[in-house]
Amino acid sequence: MKPLAYEVEGDFTLIPACCLHYPEGETSLIEKFVQRVQSDPKVRVILMGDMLDQDRTHRRKYRRGYIEDENSVASHDDRHNRRDVEQLASILYPISDQIWGVLQGNHYYQYTSGVTSDQYLCELLGVPYCGPVGVFRIGVSVSGGSSRNLKIWCHHSGGSTGGRTLGGSVNALLRQENSWDMDIYLIGHDHRRVCWRESTLGVSDRGEPAIYERTKVFARVGAFLKTYKHEACIPKKSIHIPGYGEKAAFRPADLGWVEIGVKLKRSYGAPTRFAYDLLVPDCQ
Ligand SMILES: [Fe+2]
Repeated sequence: MKPLAYEVEGDFTLIPACCLHYPEGETSLIEKFVQRVQSDPKVRVILMGDMLDQDRTHRRKYRRGYIEDENSVASHDDRHNRRDVEQLASILYPISDQIWGVLQGNHYYQYTSGVTSDQYLCELLGVPYCGPVGVFRIGVSVSGGSSRNLKIWCHHSGGSTGGRTLGGSVNALLRQENSWDMDIYLIGHDHRRVCWRESTLGVSDRGEPAIYERTKVFARVGAFLKTYKHEACIPKKSIHIPGYGEKAAFRPADLGWVEIGVKLKRSYGAPTRFAYDLLVPDCQ
């Protein structure tokens, strides 16, 4: 875990994107996301894991445990996987300058060399690889000279196995505040989109003590993979292989991303503070 620092001038919009699950995820939605990011040079992106619809943890361990014929089998699988990563990189490449980092999810491929598909994606895009936890310090400045640090914490799953209920999903995210004092907390993994503000109170450090309010943002950031594949329903000549969500009878995911508009607000006699416009756009 290595904190990353960036500088931004003026207002900007943070758009985290998670669970692309390429190529099983909706490629047209990934392209729409890229267009949205490109449409505004003040958008910044954090990619939050499950970029590829690859092995989950148990399958990766099983694969590593298979040591026979390691050259032919592994190199074939490696090559096949690298092609998927290269295709995804070519879709994301136009926004690579706007990507702050890529997190590790629970779906990824590990090459014979030990490098993962997420790390290979970062290499192709020329962006930092964060590992499981992303910690960002963003120096936000406004004309007139004042500036403040915005702190972002993000993790693919928050250590949870995913929430079946909205309450479970929200609580898993709120728990992160016990460990980290940040401004924005982001989790993906359960493919749900929820985004809200919470306030905290504090006391000023200097002069006459005054109470100040600080707003924090919490978001579960969505996905690009359909829970139920309509077109895959019981074809006549082959067995229907349902996806994970279909087997577990999950609620269908409301696909897409969330947008967090960040403004640095100055008001006379009060400390400069961050204000946030939150959006859960209709991405269909
Ligand atoms: Fe996922």
